[in-house]
Amino acid sequence: MDFSLSEEHIMIRDAARDFAQTELLPGVIERDNKQQFPKELVKKMGDLGFMGIMVDPKYGGSGMDAISYVLIMEELSKIDASASVIVSVNNSLVCYGLQAYGSEEQKQKYLTKLATGEFVGAFCLSEPEAGSDATSQKTTAIDKGDYYLLNGTKNWITSGGRADVYLVIAQTDRDKGSHGINAFIVERDTEGFHIGPKEDKLGIRGSDTHTLQFNDVKVPKENRIGANGSGFRFAMKTLSGGRIGIASQALGIAQGAYELALKYSKERKAFGTEICNHQAIAFKLADMYTEIEAARHLVMKAAWDKDEGKNYDKSSAMAKLYASKVAMEHTVEAVQIHGGNGFVKEYHVERLMRDAKITQIYEGTSEIQKIVISRSILRD
Ligand code: CAA
Ligand code: FAD
Repeated sequence: MDFSLSEEHIMIRDAARDFAQTELLPGVIERDNKQQFPKELVKKMGDLGFMGIMVDPKYGGSGMDAISYVLIMEELSKIDASASVIVSVNNSLVCYGLQAYGSEEQKQKYLTKLATGEFVGAFCLSEPEAGSDATSQKTTAIDKGDYYLLNGTKNWITSGGRADVYLVIAQTDRDKGSHGINAFIVERDTEGFHIGPKEDKLGIRGSDTHTLQFNDVKVPKENRIGANGSGFRFAMKTLSGGRIGIASQALGIAQGAYELALKYSKERKAFGTEICNHQAIAFKLADMYTEIEAARHLVMKAAWDKDEGKNYDKSSAMAKLYASKVAMEHTVEAVQIHGGNGFVKEYHVERLMRDAKITQIYEGTSEIQKIVISRSILRD
C-alpha cells in the first residue's frame, strides 16, 4: 500500500493550487456578493484541461485519472467552491455520462466541446416534487416516432442559465417505473426550452442555479442516451462519480478553512500570547487536522476504486457523507477561531461556512447517502 502521490499527481495538484491562488482568489468575494458566474475563469479552466479532466484525449479531454480529478477539485474548492461545482458537474456528471454511455456521434458532437470548456454542461434530474425521491419524475418524454416530446420542470439546476448542453432525465413510460426513464441531450436554443429565474442562495453564490421549463420541446431520437429505459440507471451511475467530485469539494472547503484558521491562530494574540497557545484553540486545530485527513482518505479511496475499475457506489457515498460533515463542522470552528473577524467577509471563512452547507444537500442529501451505504452493507 502506498499513500504517497506520484510526481505527476503533485504537478497536477500544484498547477491547480497556483491557478486557484492567482486567478480564483482575487475576485472571489465580489463574485459571491454579486452572485456572478465566473465566465472568463471557466474559459481559463478549459484551457488548462480542468473541464474535461478524465475525458479521453481523442475527445479533447486531459486523459487524467480520478485521483487527479480529486486533487484539482480540492485545490479549486479551497478558494472558490462556486467555480469548483461548475467543474464538478461538467466533469463527473456531463462529460462522464456522455463518455461512458453516449453514442459515438454524441461524443463527437458534444463531448469534444464540453471537455475543452468551449461548452458548459448541466445535469437535470431534480424536480419540484422529485429531489431525493428521484424515480418520481414528473417530466415526460413521449415517443413521437423520430423525436421525443418533452414537457416538465427541473429545479435547482447548476449552470442552468449558462449551459450549452443539458442532460435531462424524463419519464417515457410511467407503467415501467424506474425502467421507464430515459436521459436526453437538450441544446440550449431548442424551441420550447425556457430558462427560469435564478435562485438567490446562501452559498456557492458564484454558481448559477435555475429552474428550467420544457414546453413541447422536440428532442431528436438520436439525442437519447443509451438503451431505451436506461435513464435512471444512467443517473445513478453518473451520480456515484459526481459524489466523488462533491466529496472532494467538501474536502477542499474544509482544508481551506483549516489553513486560514491555523494561520490566524498563530498571529492573533489574546491574554498575552498567540491564541494557538490556548489549549481550547489548539485542540480545535487537532480535531480539524485529524478529521480532514480522515475525509481525505475516504475521498482518495473512492477515487482509487474508480480508477481501479471497482464498484464505487458505496465508497463515493461514504466519502461524500463524511467529507461534507467535516466541511460543515470545521468551517463553523474556523469562524469561531477567527472571533469577530470570522463574521466579516474579507476573512473568507464565513463564505466557506456558507458554501459548506450545500455539500450535505446536493448530489444526494446526507440521509440519501446513508440509504445508499446501508443498502449496500445489508445487500453484501
Ligand atoms: N447503479 C445501478 N442501478 C441502480 C443504482 C446504481 N447505483 N441505484 C439504483 N439502481 C437501480 C436499482 O437496482 C433499481 O433497479 P431494479 O428495479 O431493476 O432493481 C432501480 O435503479 C431503482 O432503484 P431503487 O429501488 O434503489 O430506487 P429508490 O426509489 O429507492 O431510490 C435512491 C434510490 C438512492 C434514493 C435514489 O433515488 C437517489 O440517489 N436519490 C438522490 C437523487 C440525487 O442524488 N440527486 C442529485 C441530483 S444532481 C445534483 O444534485 C447536481 C448538483 O447539485 C451539483
Ligand atoms: P427532499 O427530497 O424534499 O428532502 C427534504 C429532506 O427530507 C432532506 O433532509 C432529505 O434528506 C430528507 N429525506 C427525503 N427522503 C428521505 C428518506 N427516504 N429518508 C430520510 N430522509 C429523507 N439537482 C439536479 O438535478 N441538478 C443540479 O445541477 C442540481 N444542482 C443543485 C444546486 C443547488 C445549489 C441546490 C440547492 C440543489 C441542486 N440540485 C440539483 C438539487 C439537489 O440535488 C436536491 O435539492 C437534493 O437532491 C434534495 O432534494 P430536495 O431538495 O427535493 O429535498
